[in-house]
Amino acid sequence: PNTTGLIFAMREEQEGLEAFIQHKTVHRIAKRNFIQGELWGHPVVMVLAGIGKVAAASTTNLLIHHFQVNQLILSGVAGAADPQLKVGDIVIAETLLQHDMDASPLFPRFEIPLTGKSRFFVQQDLHMALQNATDQFIKTMHQHFSASQITEFQLQDVKSHTGLIASGDQFIHDSKVLKELKQALPNLLAVEMEGAAIAQVCDEHDLAFAILRTISDSADETAHVDFLSFVKNVAAPYTLEILKNYFEN
Ligand code: ADE
Repeated sequence: PNTTGLIFAMREEQEGLEAFIQHKTVHRIAKRNFIQGELWGHPVVMVLAGIGKVAAASTTNLLIHHFQVNQLILSGVAGAADPQLKVGDIVIAETLLQHDMDASPLFPRFEIPLTGKSRFFVQQDLHMALQNATDQFIKTMHQHFSASQITEFQLQDVKSHTGLIASGDQFIHDSKVLKELKQALPNLLAVEMEGAAIAQVCDEHDLAFAILRTISDSADETAHVDFLSFVKNVAAPYTLEILKNYFEN
């Protein structure tokens, strides 16, 4: 059967999901727990990778070689890199790039040396399926959040976006850094710390992957006051509902 790998960077991002996994077995490999089972009738392996590109790449390799996953989905939070995007919006990556890769002048900025590649593209079928699952979720937001949560977290007019996500081993919290990145990458929608590493490993193995991100902050000095509370109370329920829609469709 087709197995989906589900990767999370932070514990708070996967909050609540494990309780839905049936026929669970836990495999301990490389200091991580790989939770194998079924989610809404579909075989999955869920794992907390840890934060950053190395953690994500290492975990992706383990999912491929120990569990023979057929596709991989990472879900979590990201900083907005475009004024169109508000906290609470959802970004589904179409393209990914490592913003801290820079071997210039030997190779163009962002290019992974000797591969000729700087951008990785998400497979269309998986992208479309997640887009549908996300739009279905947005339409039914009010069923999953109370009126007071919608007010507290400003979830009145949540939108989904699709485009370029950049990953790097930096939590971006400085408008100058963000502005410089945005000048180099005018289409940039969001920044995070894992997506493009997963993309590179999946590209090596011709494996489908998707990166789904809830905007948690605007990657500047105003970074969300209560980041972890937002991740737990907003981003994690988003992930749960979107994955449910995805697996049930
Ligand atoms: N994940 C969530 N917000 C982020 C930010 N501002 N920079 C990097 N990764 C993030």
